Amino acid sequence: MQLVDHPLVHDALAILRDKRTAPDEFRRVATRISVLLAAEALRDVPVAAGAVETPLGPADARRMASGVVVVPVLRAGLGMLDAVLALVPSARVGYIGLQRDERTAVASQYYSKLPGRLDESHVLMIDPMLATGGSAVAALDHLTQAGARDIRMICIVAAPEGVEVVRKHHPGVRIYTPAIDRQLDDHKYIVPGLGDFGDRLYGTL
Ligand code: PRP
Ligand code: URA
Repeated sequence: MQLVDHPLVHDALAILRDKRTAPDEFRRVATRISVLLAAEALRDVPVAAGAVETPLGPADARRMASGVVVVPVLRAGLGMLDAVLALVPSARVGYIGLQRDERTAVASQYYSKLPGRLDESHVLMIDPMLATGGSAVAALDHLTQAGARDIRMICIVAAPEGVEVVRKHHPGVRIYTPAIDRQLDDHKYIVPGLGDFGDRLYGTL
């Protein structure tokens, strides 16, 4: 688990937590924080050394050496996708649709479309909320069954329970988050958290 401790990340997180933030601003700030989290999560992706010609002559250059696959967990993960594609325009995109049952908080899968050659790719799973960890483990199970080997995930707020569940079931997956909040409430929402991310992103409250 990697705590991303950056003033710009904390500033954005404060806006997302604020209950007065309306969906348009919420979407913009979700993108802003996701750029910073994704850059941190992809810090160790290998680069190949080469050269480019500047107007003044040759310069050493390093370019991404292997493919990145970004996997948003629908629906809330879509709020982080534009940020990752802005950083890594060549990334291929896979989708996993998961929905938590409102009563039991148990996640069930309703959609999946993943690109091939996952075993050769650096997979970045994006889902802003890690609460019980049920959705993350279901998505990670699905990705590993599909062949993914190198997986990291970014989330915007995590609960201690979720971090522990992911660590137990997928010890090789690194989680990048700026915040591990206090606890889950009786409905398995993160406290203090920021509420229902998908609803705040899309105005479905
Ligand atoms: C949210 C969130 C995670 C999940 C986290 O999605 O985006 O996927 O809950 O909770 P967990 O760790 O307890 O599984 P939700 O199921 O509400 O669906 P949505 O993204 O479509 O709103
Ligand atoms: N999903 C959310 O959107 N928020 C939470 O606090 C927990 C799960």
